[in-house]
Amino acid sequence: MDSPFKPDVLKGKVALITGGGSGIGFEISSQFGKHGASIAIMGRRRQVLDDAVSELRSLGIPAIGLEGDVRKAEDARRVVESTYQHFGRIDILVNAAAGNFLAAAEDLSTNGFRTVLDIDAVGTFNMCHEALKYLKKGGPGRDSSSGGGSILNISATLHYTASWYQIHVSAAKAAVDATTRNLALEWGTDYEIRVNGIAPGPIQGTPGMSKLVPDEIESKVRENMPLYKLGDKWDIAMAALYLSCDSGKYVNGLIMPVDNGLWLGKPRH
Ligand code: HXC
Repeated sequence: MDSPFKPDVLKGKVALITGGGSGIGFEISSQFGKHGASIAIMGRRRQVLDDAVSELRSLGIPAIGLEGDVRKAEDARRVVESTYQHFGRIDILVNAAAGNFLAAAEDLSTNGFRTVLDIDAVGTFNMCHEALKYLKKGGPGRDSSSGGGSILNISATLHYTASWYQIHVSAAKAAVDATTRNLALEWGTDYEIRVNGIAPGPIQGTPGMSKLVPDEIESKVRENMPLYKLGDKWDIAMAALYLSCDSGKYVNGLIMPVDNGLWLGKPRH
């Protein structure tokens, strides 16, 4: 689908995208690139990074892949530094890396609970914390007129109520949303950094869908949605573009559900 945005809305910007090699993260990487940004993607799997970078470069997008685990502060620091060394600035950080599996609360180990909290919540904090120096107004590589950069955290809607077999992810995404709001307040005020979030609904063709909604129950999910359809990765990337380019310049601390209104409730039957 064509983009409604002009192709230069992110011209000259540099975006670092965790989990940017696959799923929603890759779609954000490629749409940001198609709209003028240079892209650094971070992930744990070398082959996934290499394939993603090749695809981005084949579209003419300047791109690098940096191996690292967001759970480790030293990896976060190294990847942020390498992005700056390579491109000379960092304007946008997207935290799209996430971990997930279905598990009933009574069967979930402490380590299982902690692992997802670590990837989603601690990982998001680590990346934001390390990138602050470069995103803040007047930071390295930033011209004095351009203000601060922006951060976009990908969460979910499942913690708005409760979700079966997702206690660990619900807790983690609630922490991500709290992190978004608190950083928006502190860093918006002090450093002119805008911090926003996107809460995707069920998006087809993602690891989340295949892990959480096996094919046999997908039609049931559709029946319970107000407009009876799944979202596309494109829908999330367009929301990400809106929040990350000048169209979103007065938006700070927003967590935008992009789920076709599913979080509001079930349709009439
Ligand atoms: C119960 C499980 C489990 C499962 C892992 N664990 N899988 N418990 N059921 N299916 C437990 C393990 O037993 C272990 O605890 C602990 O979790 C850590 O597991 P590891 O395999 O050692 O962790 P790690 O190698 O770091 O892998 C992390 C992972 C993995 C989250 C488990 O799936 C992963 O790396 N995922 C990344 C990609 C991903 O999930 N993408 C989907 C994102 S979708 P013990 O006690 O045994 O040591 C998404 C959508 C969210 O985020 C919103 C949806 C609406």
